[in-house]
Amino acid sequence: METTITATDIAGAKGTRRLVMVTAVDEPSARLADRAGVDVVLVGDSLAMAALGRPDTLSVTVDEMIHHTRAAAAGAKRALLVADMPFGSYQTAVADAVRNACRLVAEGGAHAVKLEGPRCDEIAAITAAGIPVMGHLGLTPQSLHRLGGYHVQGRATERAVALVDDARAVERAGAFAVVLEAIPPALGAAVTRVCTVPTIGIGAGPWCDGQVLVFSDLLGLTEANAPRFVRRYAQLGETITAALEAFASDVRERRYPADAECYADPPGLAEALAEHLGRE
Ligand code: KIV
Repeated sequence: METTITATDIAGAKGTRRLVMVTAVDEPSARLADRAGVDVVLVGDSLAMAALGRPDTLSVTVDEMIHHTRAAAAGAKRALLVADMPFGSYQTAVADAVRNACRLVAEGGAHAVKLEGPRCDEIAAITAAGIPVMGHLGLTPQSLHRLGGYHVQGRATERAVALVDDARAVERAGAFAVVLEAIPPALGAAVTRVCTVPTIGIGAGPWCDGQVLVFSDLLGLTEANAPRFVRRYAQLGETITAALEAFASDVRERRYPADAECYADPPGLAEALAEHLGRE
């Protein structure tokens, strides 16, 4: 039996190897990511778009995150399982943040949680409760309305310096790793240089300690225009549609099911049924 990767392993991997994180929304996606040997499976609130057909992450609830995290926990046997804290679950009070983080662990089976922004009091309190916390800086989609859209962050020097300070503060508060989303590569490199915990980039350039992509983006399951940082490693959407079209055509043309795909009739059953129904 393979050992489970811990948050301490992830923190300690800085400078020794590149980290791989992939999102998952259910048992199959977590199982496949785990089998592929990723280090971290993230049940991201991007499941709003990836699995729930919503326009953004803002409406995801703690109960929905628990539901999907529990499913992913059944598939992630080796990777560290991190659950996103959804919008509204940690912004209201530190006690709410701790309570909701505890629910994601106790009811969802998460090993750690991730939250957006330099919320150092919440990070420190959740960590003190025994739950490892992953930070998330740069483009923080839960702040969509404050940011005015999904724009690259930290382009101006002043904003870039502030983000470096935020990363240091998040690390000091106890985060074991920090996601950096949609920032210039030079800023990704600077944060990676000053932080002693790993940075995991998504649209943050090549110098981060690791990289993360959304499962459905990297496999070509999403149809919306993908952000610049997405690389499609497969076109599963097309493969799945072709398979479903083939099934529909086989059913309509009576090519499915074939004899080998049917259970054998017991001897005499067809005749007995015909005789019985003939008497009705
Ligand atoms: O929800 C998510 O998928 C994320 C990644 C973009 C890191 O937070």
